[in-house]
Amino acid sequence: MSDLWQISEDTFDPQSQHHKETIFTIGNGYLATRGAFEEGYPDDRRGTFVHGVFDDVPIIFTELVNAPDWLPFIISLEDERFSLDTGTVEKFHRSLDLRTGVLTRIVHWKSPGGRRAEITFERFISLADQHTMLIRCQVVPKFDGEIEFRASLNGNTDTESIAHWHWIGQGTREETIYLHNRTRSTRIELASAMRFLVVAGKPLFDNFCNVENTPTRVIVMNAHPGEPIALEKYVSIVTSRDTPAVVNSAIEHVNNIADWHTALDLNTQGWAQEWARSDVVIEGDEESQTALRFNIFQLLIAAPRHDDRVSIGAKTLSGFGYRGHIFWDTEIFMLPMFTYTNPHIARNMLNYRYRNLTAARQNALLKGFEGARFPWESADTGEEVTPTWVPNQNDRTSLIRIWTGDIQIHISADIAYATYQYWKVTGDDDWFVEKGAEIILDTAKFWASRAEWNTEAGYYEYNNVIGPDEYHEHVDNNAFTNRMAQWNMQTALEVLDWLKSHAPARAIELINQLDLSAERLARWRHVIANIYLPAQQSGLIEQFDGYFNLKDIDLAAMEPRHKSIQSILGIEGANQTQVIKQPDVLILLYLLGEHYSAEDIKVNYDYYTPHTDHTYGSSLGPSIQSIMACRVGKPNDAYEHFIRAVRADLQDMRGNARDGIHAASAGGLWQAVVFGFAGLHITPEGWSANPSLPTHWKRLKFHFLHQGELQEVDIKRDE
Ligand code: BGC
Repeated sequence: MSDLWQISEDTFDPQSQHHKETIFTIGNGYLATRGAFEEGYPDDRRGTFVHGVFDDVPIIFTELVNAPDWLPFIISLEDERFSLDTGTVEKFHRSLDLRTGVLTRIVHWKSPGGRRAEITFERFISLADQHTMLIRCQVVPKFDGEIEFRASLNGNTDTESIAHWHWIGQGTREETIYLHNRTRSTRIELASAMRFLVVAGKPLFDNFCNVENTPTRVIVMNAHPGEPIALEKYVSIVTSRDTPAVVNSAIEHVNNIADWHTALDLNTQGWAQEWARSDVVIEGDEESQTALRFNIFQLLIAAPRHDDRVSIGAKTLSGFGYRGHIFWDTEIFMLPMFTYTNPHIARNMLNYRYRNLTAARQNALLKGFEGARFPWESADTGEEVTPTWVPNQNDRTSLIRIWTGDIQIHISADIAYATYQYWKVTGDDDWFVEKGAEIILDTAKFWASRAEWNTEAGYYEYNNVIGPDEYHEHVDNNAFTNRMAQWNMQTALEVLDWLKSHAPARAIELINQLDLSAERLARWRHVIANIYLPAQQSGLIEQFDGYFNLKDIDLAAMEPRHKSIQSILGIEGANQTQVIKQPDVLILLYLLGEHYSAEDIKVNYDYYTPHTDHTYGSSLGPSIQSIMACRVGKPNDAYEHFIRAVRADLQDMRGNARDGIHAASAGGLWQAVVFGFAGLHITPEGWSANPSLPTHWKRLKFHFLHQGELQEVDIKRDE
């Protein structure tokens, strides 16, 4: 049996270089680094992203900045520089150990001049000290001569061609080298510090090259055939978000690294604790087992453990896609895994939203509404940072208007939902009284003010919105939006009653602060009772007004295809069909499942499944589709959708994994296993599991925390 904790490959394919950089990302929740090579490779997309380090950019407002590069580690055999694009690669092996986050690469290389060496790089970003990362390089030369090693800190990085860093200074303190930079607009300072040590072999020469913005240490070693040489590079990164004294702090952290083995042990212990909480065991399906661990790993390395001013973006910290912005992906797709297994991380991520309530209020006001309206895309300040216009890739002379920031308002209810879910699962009343309740109450206030009374029809509606299915823009009465808004307001009333009896002083405070007068609450009740919720006699829910009148095209007849329906038909073309990018009504039935009968779920599942662009639509879809297939008793279909999510990044199903991990798909995968195949369900009395495992799965086992108590679910198929 293969090791189901390893992601590995035995060949390097330059065509998939960027995809693999994403796959081999490592990190610790403070920062993460893409899997580019230490020595570089033509056109590589090197990237290190530190949570919260945003800087301004034209058009898209702000982006998570590519930090100064801590990886550079250049090897020259005599005067021939080691690089996989020259000479001959006689062996290549790369593996990521998900158990410990150690990335290893073994290359047997013959230089163009015929010198041979066996080179092994190992690196990890410590889970024990979030500011430190280490590289170890062993070279076994097959020739007599000299090998030069150059280790640098490189401040000349850009973020998709935009330079964000000013150079402030650099230097040495004894053996430690440091570099000090600052972002241009947000003026965040970042210091990196480095030590470079010989641990095996004889140095001939050792020098500090004081190149501006790339301080470098050069060590030349004697090479003899078969005699191993080993060097270690220790690095630390600290920003002014952590402390004002960034240089001193970075130097202190890097000097605190005792040695490789001690640092590795501490890191391994940290990971052992993470996996004790987070591992999910699947027996009988090696591909799914490894992929699930990989996806959990990717979320864990992006998870803010010690910072509640940040949250996880749609591409984690693994790529340039979506510029580090945070979407509903976080609360609806990623957060449940943390709520159930790592509540302190979930709380940090919800605190990020809480801290941005002021901006959300401003956001509502700007649009002429009350309460809190969270941005569709969020960054450091909580303002709306969705780009308004983007270039049209098919016609460079035109721009495309992006409407999501204007009208994809369901995110406010999604955040309220995740807040409530966190409270119910963890029982964290203190946090809820102090922070969570306010999120739910103020988003409810927004929904009540946004509802429009239709005099003719005699009901409230939400017009001109975008639901989860983004193939259809400017729709009226999107069922998901209307029902989630109603849920938000209903829940707010329940929360207010609860506060009145459990935390009366806080209830009074919030009533005054948010102006929750009797009249306002009466309006909420009126909207709740009179909101338009489109549903037919059969239980079939129309996704939005007029959806059933749109062109009904046969998706199956368009197979085989390798593009999304939107790329085939164009934005307007797709808008005129019933094809949807991702579950919309079905995700509503997933989130508010207890309010719908099995028959309702089946009717909607049967209608919307063939209308969904499962393979090339949104990567958010397949996991939810899988859960709903379990709900309607179709385990084979559930598995088919599940496998799409399993392969989303590892097999680059959409051809865009180079931009970063599809984090919502990763979180959805965890939910598909836990709420789909295991059928975990929290009830007021406790919890229950209603498994429907794929036929070849022999066992499914995981842990979760319910009201602070560790629970185990262990489902075994009878032989
Ligand atoms: C999806 C959205 C998602 C966004 C970021 C879009 O393609 O349709 O639902 O929030 O990507 O992942």
